[in-house]
Amino acid sequence: MEARSLERTDADIRNRYDTLSAALHWLTAGLVISAIVIALWADRAGRDLGLQLIFLHKSLGLTIFAVVVVRIGWRLFHRAPPYSLPLPMWQRIVSWIVHYSLYALMLALPITGYLLSTKSMFPLEWFGNEIPKAPVSDETAEAADAAHGWLSWVAIWMVVLHVSAALWHQFGMRDRLIARMNPFST
Ligand code: HEM
Ligand code: HEM
Repeated sequence: MEARSLERTDADIRNRYDTLSAALHWLTAGLVISAIVIALWADRAGRDLGLQLIFLHKSLGLTIFAVVVVRIGWRLFHRAPPYSLPLPMWQRIVSWIVHYSLYALMLALPITGYLLSTKSMFPLEWFGNEIPKAPVSDETAEAADAAHGWLSWVAIWMVVLHVSAALWHQFGMRDRLIARMNPFST
């Protein structure tokens, strides 16, 4: 058993995402988790703090959109590294579905967030810099608001599933999966 996990360890160290893919992964991961925590906190905070937190949430969300466009563009030309040892087919399929859903959510949430902001009485700002609102009707903004609400809960559960799976591989199966996403390796 020990020999087998060492074999996995050595092999997995050779198969990594490239440095920029890994750096962009951790940057988006940090931004998405912060955007979620801040939005949920804003819900529970008083009016003034809640407003400041939503301003921050919008700025982070717009940043995520820009970073994710770069990340997806880069990913189109840089494939995921192969797994060192055969991974059961169901795990391949589930991880594929979760990864692509996360990419889709990181585009859909900023877009619906941008559209829903049109109906706000406050200006739309990116870290204090005003940006134009989308020229959409109140009905569209309302629909975007509803979509943002339920998509954000899908995103929360997808992130929980994704992080749990990564930790289960790392500490349960001891296959050092997270080393595949180490940006500092050679
Ligand atoms: C903070 C905890 C996290 C850990 C430990 C983690 C770990 C990992 C690992 C190890 C992989 C590679 C999986 C593989 O080789 O099959 C991966 C891939 C991925 N992660 Fe995370 N992740 C975290 C958070 C996030 C968050 C918050 C997001 C975005 C919402 C995210 C989005 C992705 C995506 C889209 C991929 C697929 C990469 C690709 O093949 O293009 N991760 N993650
Ligand atoms: C990946 C990026 C984003 C994530 C993960 C995200 C996530 C969330 C979450 C979890 C909530 C709380 C939902 C609830 O309480 O039911 C929320 C609310 C909100 N989000 Fe986002 N969001 C993102 C991007 C954006 C962007 C770019 C904007 C605007 C430019 C935005 C504007 C808002 C607003 C105004 C609310 C308050 C709820 C409302 O008025 O209906 N979000 N978001």
